[in-house]
Amino acid sequence: MHPDAPEFHVEIVSPVALHAVRRRVLRGDDPAISVVDARDDDDTALHVAGLLGDRLVVTSSYYPSTSPVHPERVTYQLRYMATDFDVQGRGYGALVAAAAEDLLRQRGVEELWANGRDTALGFYRATGWQTVPGSEHLSPETQLPHTMIVKSLLDGAES
Ligand SMILES: CC(C)(COP(=O)(O)OP(=O)(O)OC[C@H]1O[C@@H](n2cnc3c(N)ncnc32)[C@H](O)[C@@H]1OP(=O)(O)O)[C@@H](O)C(=O)NCCC(=O)NCCS
Repeated sequence: MHPDAPEFHVEIVSPVALHAVRRRVLRGDDPAISVVDARDDDDTALHVAGLLGDRLVVTSSYYPSTSPVHPERVTYQLRYMATDFDVQGRGYGALVAAAAEDLLRQRGVEELWANGRDTALGFYRATGWQTVPGSEHLSPETQLPHTMIVKSLLDGAES
């Protein structure tokens, strides 16, 4: 790395800081499309970002949500996982996810669930998620193919 290259780091951020990357990477930069989740400002929501210097390049947001797969567990839903286009494939998304999962484990969260874009399932598999058989669907928001995915945060547990 160039000695002057900005360093990558992970931070907890406010949801509004995530809007630009959410919109650019996940919503085709369409200014008319909402990039807000109604739970964004809840105290229990967790927004974890990756930054290069002061440039925010990775977004992820986690909300308490009953898992459709394991309703008896303490579960959060992941939404808006995105790495800005020019820095994808450098491991930043995986670093942000790992940091967020550590924080969620400390809150007693046992499992995560999400509706993963089919084009991103390789990322989710590489970071320990499993697909839920038969859950393939089109997102009502984007009309893109998605599959439900789950990840246990319990040490050594099977999802
Ligand atoms: C999916 C996304 C968040 C991954 O972030 P990233 O920072 O590029 O991912 P990383 O570089 O941390 O990759 C971690 C691992 O996942 C793999 N991976 C990442 N994206 C992948 C993909 N689309 N298909 C297959 N594997 C993928 C990497 O090869 C790496 O594997 P390794 O650990 O075996 O080397 C990013 O590509 C993205 O924003 N895509 C567009 C938006 C999107 O689809 N978001 C998900 C919405 S549900």
